Amino acid sequence: MNASSRIPLIVLFGGESAEHDVSCVTAAHVIAAANAEKYDITTIGISRAGNWNLVSPTSDELATGRLSTTGTPTNLQTITSLSAQCVVLPLLHGPLGEDGTVQGMLELGNIAYVGSGVLSSAVCMDKVVSKQILQHHNIEQPAFIALRDGECSPADIDAAIDQLGFPIFVKPANMGSSVGVSKVARREDFMTALHLAFQYDEWAICEEFIAGREIEVAVLGNMEPIASVPGEIVPAGEFYDYKDKYVNNSATLHIPALLTAEQSQEVREKALNIYKALRCDGLARVDFFFEESTSRFLCNEVNTIPGFTPISMYPKLWEQTGISYSDLIDRLIELAFERHARRRRHTSH
Ligand SMILES: Nc1ncnc2c1ncn2[C@@H]1O[C@H](COP(=O)(O)OP(=O)(O)O)[C@@H](O)[C@H]1O
Ligand SMILES: [Mg+2]
Repeated sequence: MNASSRIPLIVLFGGESAEHDVSCVTAAHVIAAANAEKYDITTIGISRAGNWNLVSPTSDELATGRLSTTGTPTNLQTITSLSAQCVVLPLLHGPLGEDGTVQGMLELGNIAYVGSGVLSSAVCMDKVVSKQILQHHNIEQPAFIALRDGECSPADIDAAIDQLGFPIFVKPANMGSSVGVSKVARREDFMTALHLAFQYDEWAICEEFIAGREIEVAVLGNMEPIASVPGEIVPAGEFYDYKDKYVNNSATLHIPALLTAEQSQEVREKALNIYKALRCDGLARVDFFFEESTSRFLCNEVNTIPGFTPISMYPKLWEQTGISYSDLIDRLIELAFERHARRRRHTSH
């Protein structure tokens, strides 16, 4: 392929969320792995303050596996003018990246992008709304109650405790990386946990505690998605918290998960049903609790931009299923163009 026929690929990374650093690591690995003969890569780093910069990754940064977001200021118009046929790979996690905001901006610009659209991204980021939809589809999940800041009376709190029973997990509705998540065993701690969750979102979700193993399935595709072999995370601490995820890297991954063939089949099918119910496109990692006492898989959450460093669960699961890291990037880009063409058929009249 000559230079002019390469696909213009825009890698968007960094961002304002708690997962800024991991995104900088992911971007370095994706750029190093993407086929240079196939893609003409432009790299855009979003600083912690939300400024967009055109970045030129140095060979040092690529070798050490971490990019910096400093560079020449840029914006969406500049991206669009790069090429009408470009595709954006948003390597952004959490609010203002994974939640439909960046996706909406790209839709307005008529730009193809990897992953789910506005609706699915926003729904999957919101633990309250996504659980309500899954409930509608009769998908098993932990019992939950949603509370809104300023609207929950002592009676609501008593009712939540009565219904869920201690311990209770309290989380902000729109977050990630276990930020603002608490496991509480007493009424006083419940109030503190709620206040913490309300620092990150107006809505909090309270869930019954599930004594279960954490099983994750990678899903890939648009109209006919496929599910990977399941993997398992064994947290080092009491639960899979921020430290475990990004500071100590102390959790253990089992790929594939230690499940029977039937259990594995069951969770893969559940992951596909959940992916379809939440209208995902491109990719998502569907996380479950496996409650051994009842042999049930309960859906915990769906991540539409899952961790994507080469040692992250999502690419590891595909590798085990037979798709390499660089083939996965190719497939995601094909899916982005396919989705974009499908969208345009419905939106351009
Ligand atoms: N209902 C629950 N029962 C048991 N453990 C839970 C429950 N909810 C969350 N956890 C623990 O907390 C971690 C983070 O919660 P999660 O809902 O996945 O939030 P995040 O979006 O921040 O990853 C989970 O990986 C799990 O270890
Ligand atoms: Mg999680």
